[in-house]
Amino acid sequence: MELRVNVNGEDKVFTIAAGERLLDVLRRVGYHSVKEGCREGNCGACVVLLDGKPINSCQVFAARCEGCEITTAEGLGTPAHPHPLQAAFVKAGAVQCGYCTPGMLLSAKALLDENPEPTTEEIKEALDGNLCRCTGYVKIIKAVKNAARAMK
Ligand code: FES
Ligand code: FES
Repeated sequence: MELRVNVNGEDKVFTIAAGERLLDVLRRVGYHSVKEGCREGNCGACVVLLDGKPINSCQVFAARCEGCEITTAEGLGTPAHPHPLQAAFVKAGAVQCGYCTPGMLLSAKALLDENPEPTTEEIKEALDGNLCRCTGYVKIIKAVKNAARAMK
């Protein structure tokens, strides 16, 4: 079957299998920023934005995304022109192994799109579903605050 979606601003048509998860489709067609972790909805490594809202793509059937807008980390910025969140993560040292980073960035983007001046508690709440085994979260929270300031 065919799936029509807009990914990072580009209209796409993907051939998918019934029952295929969005995570698997996105990785199969080359969006490798979308990471596979637990496949159970617990780690947030697979987060993408679906019509602007963060979702665990391992928990969503691709077929249910017909006509939707999807944002992956590939759509945020480039090495030459990083999104302010990407620049802030690098500057704050909020990236270590990097496995959690794409999902973190997208959850943080969804937060800042809705709430440009979040408190520490609001940042913690927004990133609650994104697990990081490396950083201890302090630098990630600092990076989101710095990005919010930079985006004003
Ligand atoms: S791989 Fe989807 S939440 Fe862990
Ligand atoms: S930087 Fe390694 S899991 Fe977050």
